[in-house]
Amino acid sequence: MSKKKTTSSSDMNAPPPIKLLVLHGPNLNLLGTREPEYYGLATLADINMALSHRAATAGVVLETFQSNHEGALIERVQAASEQRFTYFIINPAAFTHTSVALRDAIAASQIPFIEVHLSNVHARESFRHHSYFSDLAIGVISGLGSKGYLLALEYLLSQREPS
Ligand code: DQA
Repeated sequence: MSKKKTTSSSDMNAPPPIKLLVLHGPNLNLLGTREPEYYGLATLADINMALSHRAATAGVVLETFQSNHEGALIERVQAASEQRFTYFIINPAAFTHTSVALRDAIAASQIPFIEVHLSNVHARESFRHHSYFSDLAIGVISGLGSKGYLLALEYLLSQREPS
């Protein structure tokens, strides 16, 4: 007998479809030319394109947003709550080490997130060792260059599958 898929109560308990927002903090618009010894040669457009391509093949919605302004990032995070994004991938860049306000916005959103850094912040100046985000994050990827974003995305995609 062929098994027909019907809606069951367990389907109704299935997690909502993944809708991702990738947030890039200040100076990440300069990737490609900015201190390539730390940040590599990939541009922000390269990173966003690779993420969008992977998201499209997985059939999930992915948007990206970069700003050099703390307030603009906070407002994007607040809007994301209303737009029912399921996850953030965020590289807060220098705001990682300074911004209680962006941390508070992320905490208020209750949207789970992965924190990504291109460079290994723990192998750099001591002021980069503290993050206002890491204790709230699902996880942190630091030092794997632009691949870190794709690894974060793969992890979030894997959350759809039963473990
Ligand atoms: C960064 C590390 C931060 O310390 C720095 O201010 C950045 C980029 C990274 O991706 O390695 O702008 O977040």
